[in-house]
Amino acid sequence: MVKIDTSDRSKVLAIIGQGYVGLPLAMAAVDAGWTVIGIEKSASRVDQLNSGSSPVEDISDERLAKAIAANKFVASNKPAEVAHASVVTICVPTPLSELREPDLQLLESATKDISPYLSDETLLVSESTSYPGTLREIIIPIVNGLKSSEASILYFASAPERVNPGDPVWNQKNTPRLVGGIDEESQKRALAFYNSICDSVVATSTPEIAEAAKILENTFRLVNIAMINEFTQLCSSQGINVHEVINAAATKPYGFMPFRPGVGIGGHCIPVDPLYLTWWARKGSQVASLVERSDEIANQMPIYVAGRALAIVKNSTSTPKVLIMGVAYKPGVGDVRETPASALRAALVARGAEVAWVDPLVPLWEGTKPVSEEWECDVAIVATNQPGLNVKTLLARGIPILDCTNNYGKQEGVHLL
Ligand SMILES: NC(=O)c1ccc[n+]([C@@H]2O[C@H](COP(=O)([O-])OP(=O)(O)OC[C@H]3O[C@@H](n4cnc5c(N)ncnc54)[C@H](O)[C@@H]3O)[C@@H](O)[C@H]2O)c1
Repeated sequence: MVKIDTSDRSKVLAIIGQGYVGLPLAMAAVDAGWTVIGIEKSASRVDQLNSGSSPVEDISDERLAKAIAANKFVASNKPAEVAHASVVTICVPTPLSELREPDLQLLESATKDISPYLSDETLLVSESTSYPGTLREIIIPIVNGLKSSEASILYFASAPERVNPGDPVWNQKNTPRLVGGIDEESQKRALAFYNSICDSVVATSTPEIAEAAKILENTFRLVNIAMINEFTQLCSSQGINVHEVINAAATKPYGFMPFRPGVGIGGHCIPVDPLYLTWWARKGSQVASLVERSDEIANQMPIYVAGRALAIVKNSTSTPKVLIMGVAYKPGVGDVRETPASALRAALVARGAEVAWVDPLVPLWEGTKPVSEEWECDVAIVATNQPGLNVKTLLARGIPILDCTNNYGKQEGVHLL
């Protein structure tokens, strides 16, 4: 049994999954006076957490260790520990299957694991991103089929997490939280829980509205990123600097929001969530054609970038050596999930290039290790402007740079998308 004090069940929260979403939520809840049991399937992660070492960049070891020392947080791999909690949140991954369709296996198995142990009058909230109807059609039936006879009343809500790892401004506390309860009492309890942690809580009339809003937010990003990447290719082919175009358009005080071109889309959300939408549409005999086309354009962008980089060294060598700088999907994190750098590397290799990479925050990527920035190359691609990259040194050595991040454009030897 855990060594924290769980005697006041009304202030005990259990969080299923201690990753990019679950651990920051745990720390925000500790700050708000909750005692938190972080239930995590990975035994090594449980040990790591209980030793005070944080696996996610946004939570410092000091903050985690402080919560442990105050007996306010413990990690456990025993789903039965949910029995101590009045609120249980599910924060497990919702990835895509090999067919690029929603894969809810982890969500379903996490729900199955905890269902027999939920105490009576527990609020169960899903924070995992999924298509509308997931709480009502998947989670609740599993719980009702497996809950113990003592758990006669349970409350359910959907409160999709919106956290943006690595963001210095927006976090679990100050990002408005959408909350949709399954009934009036569930909503009342879910609002009270999130009001205790978040500065601002927004009630939706149903869980499906909250679930759909989360999918809309990330689909909005995908469509706009795809659009600006397509627009970039058009401008570039006509010799027009797309960054100047975007800056010019952004002077309009209303009705325009600047998106910037890049290598593509990455991470757990933008490449994944819109496909929950396209699948959901097809399930209802509809087609989200704009979203499907945006996904295609986004996935084609790394191939375009590879072509642009190789055009810089055209004819100078038969086996161009290309250094990819920054392979995490965005700056400030070591997260390589769904990184577009993978498709970029594959496209370069397919065109006969020898490819190496550097990233100060990534020690190992797809079974390969980084090289030193001294590595002799014909061109370097800044894919992600990771803190600690030393682009200037490469420029000083006369190596041309394709900067996909628009951070080094004013210097000689730098090519922009
Ligand atoms: N990472 C983000 O930026 C972000 C932002 C908003 C929403 N989300 C959504 O939040 C959810 C979680 O994403 P994440 O990035 O935190 O994932 P993650 O991979 O960082 O962490 C999930 C954790 O859950 C654990 N886990 C899996 N099955 C479990 C089980 N049955 N019991 C206990 N632990 C289990 C995993 O071992 C892992 O440590 C996903 O639905 C994701 O789409 C993620």
